[in-house]
Amino acid sequence: EKGGYDHFMLKEIYEQPDAISDTYRGRMLVNENLIRMAGIDDNIEKFLNAKRIIIVACGTSWHAGLVAEYIFEDIARIPVEVEYASEFRYRNPIINKDDVVIAISQSGETADTMAAINLAKENGAFVFGVCNVVGSSISRETHAGAYTHAGPEIGVASTKAFTTQITVLTLIALRLAKQKGVLSNSQFNEHLRELEQIPEKVKKALESNEHIEVVASKYKDAKNFLYLGRGFNFPVALEGALKLKEISYIHAEGYPAAEMKHGPIALIDSQMPVVVIATRKGHYDKVVSNIEEIKSREGKIIGIVTEGDVEVRKRADYVIEVPETLESLTPLLTTIPLQLLSYHIAVMLDKNVDQPRNLAKSVTVE
Ligand code: M6R
Repeated sequence: EKGGYDHFMLKEIYEQPDAISDTYRGRMLVNENLIRMAGIDDNIEKFLNAKRIIIVACGTSWHAGLVAEYIFEDIARIPVEVEYASEFRYRNPIINKDDVVIAISQSGETADTMAAINLAKENGAFVFGVCNVVGSSISRETHAGAYTHAGPEIGVASTKAFTTQITVLTLIALRLAKQKGVLSNSQFNEHLRELEQIPEKVKKALESNEHIEVVASKYKDAKNFLYLGRGFNFPVALEGALKLKEISYIHAEGYPAAEMKHGPIALIDSQMPVVVIATRKGHYDKVVSNIEEIKSREGKIIGIVTEGDVEVRKRADYVIEVPETLESLTPLLTTIPLQLLSYHIAVMLDKNVDQPRNLAKSVTVE
């Protein structure tokens, strides 16, 4: 059932090229320069009239929501707020009839997310679900939705659900951008063509597996890790840190790279590995200067870089390359090495990768 892999998590990491293409298949028609998604097409006015979109989710799905915030605002120019479902539901939030709420959930059974949906519905908002499990409670309770089509995810640590959630949300952002006329036909087409290439590029990123194992063996005994990223890749830093915490029990924190100087820099010494997402597009020079700051305090640097990178390579202890793509699509690639890094560290530490202690696949308690 693990298809020859040692763990479901590894199998699911390797399934991502297919999972991503299954997610856009039939929805993205590159030659016709079209995106077709029934849940959006049937409710297009609701989305176009929305003053803002509120995304509610937990854990990894919340991280996908954060990536979507950058994508929606950048591509579709719609204001987005991303909320932990558990905070949203308990804090008397302001919800209007013309708000669109997007709930993201792999399992479709997360209690806090469900409660947030109910609250939004009571207040008259239109609620759209992005779920993986077909027929799940959240997929039934929302007004409309789009499935991720990632296939069953068994490992407690979410992997392919995350990248397919980002894929669905990207499709939605592009669909709305086209309708609003904020992207020209050729810009829209460029995005479709790039998205179509992502599965091949994920395969390429997976080829670094052995090299990542070497990096893992080097830092597996660290007590703390820091993950840094900017813009679209700031949520990827959060996700990388969550993956490491969940399955290896090593304390890790994700931060926006520029926030380092406002506190976390005090933690850096020769014992601190820092994973820095430093792809070429997206404030590269600033990230390179963050790397200098880490280096001068003897921190260890693992750079996630674009193929052919020069500047980070000169300064980092290790670099892991991912192929080049549009900046908004980089999270689909930079996530891959972070999943593999946490996987190998957990295996080397002899942890229960697929069923980490204290965790369940779906959190149905409040
Ligand atoms: O099923 P959901 O997407 O609603 O689950 C949300 C979180 O419980 C989930 O993402 C959790 O954080 C994962 N264990 C992360 O790997």
